[in-house]
Amino acid sequence: MKNQFGGNWTEAKMEIIVSYAKAYLTIMNNQTWAKTLYFDGFAGSGLIEVDDREEIIKGTSLRILEIQDPKPFDLYYFVEKDLKTKLALENNIQSNYFGKNAHVVQDDCNIRLKTMAKYLDENKSFRALAFIDPYGMSVNWDSIESLKNKGIDLWILVPTGLGINRLLKNNGDISDSWLLKLEKFLGLTRDEIKNHFYKKSIQSTLFGEEVSINKEKKQLKKHVNFIKQD
Ligand SMILES: C[S@@+](CC[C@H](N)C(=O)[O-])C[C@H]1O[C@@H](n2cnc3c(N)ncnc32)[C@H](O)[C@@H]1O
Repeated sequence: MKNQFGGNWTEAKMEIIVSYAKAYLTIMNNQTWAKTLYFDGFAGSGLIEVDDREEIIKGTSLRILEIQDPKPFDLYYFVEKDLKTKLALENNIQSNYFGKNAHVVQDDCNIRLKTMAKYLDENKSFRALAFIDPYGMSVNWDSIESLKNKGIDLWILVPTGLGINRLLKNNGDISDSWLLKLEKFLGLTRDEIKNHFYKKSIQSTLFGEEVSINKEKKQLKKHVNFIKQD
C-alpha cells in the first residue's frame, strides 16, 4: 500500500527532516544520560507514490528508521489514523527493520501527542523529536500546547496556502464552522482571530461613514513564524 501525493516538495521535505534528525542525534550523542524518541504523528504507510514520476519512494518514516550515523533513535512511535495504512507500515517495519524499537499505533495524532506528553513527564531521561505533517488543519492547538516544556523538538508543516489562508476570507465574513476550525488550530478565540488577522477601516463618504474589514496578509506570515519559533 502506498500514499499518493508528492513531487519535488515531498522529496525536499523529507531531506530536511532527515538532515535535522541526524543533526539532532549528533547533539544528543553528547548527552549520554538522554534517550531519544522519534514521534511521527501522520506517519503514512512508509511508501509514497510520486504522481508525476510513476515511481515509489520511501517515506519519511522509513528514512528515519534507516539512520545509523551518528546513531539510531532509542524509540520510534508512529501514529497513523487509517487502519490499512497503519498495517502496511507495520508490515514494512517488521520485514525490513526488524529489531528496531518501533511502535505503530492506529489513532488520531491529537490523542497521541498528549500520550507522548504524559510519557515524557513520566520518563525524564527521554528527549523527543516530533514530526507533524498533517492533512489540512487536523492538528489542534491544545495538543501542541500539551508539549510545552517537555524536552521536544517539534516540526509542524503548517498548511498556510490551502488551509488557514483559505479559511481567513478576505472580507472577514467567515462561517461558524470555519471559525471553529480556526479556533482549534490557532488556539485563539473568535475575537482574537478577528483582531489579529483583520484591520477595520472607516472612511467618510458622501453618504456617511463606510466601514470595511480587510485581511492583513502580513499577520498570517507573522503567526506562522511564531508557531515555528515557539
Ligand atoms: C501526508 S501523509 C504522511 C506522509 C508521511 N509524513 C511521509 O512523509 O512519508 C498523511 C497521513 O496521515 C494520516 N492521517 C490523516 N489524519 C490523521 C490524524 N488525525 N491522525 C493521524 N494520522 C492521520 C493519513 O491517513 C495519511 O496516511
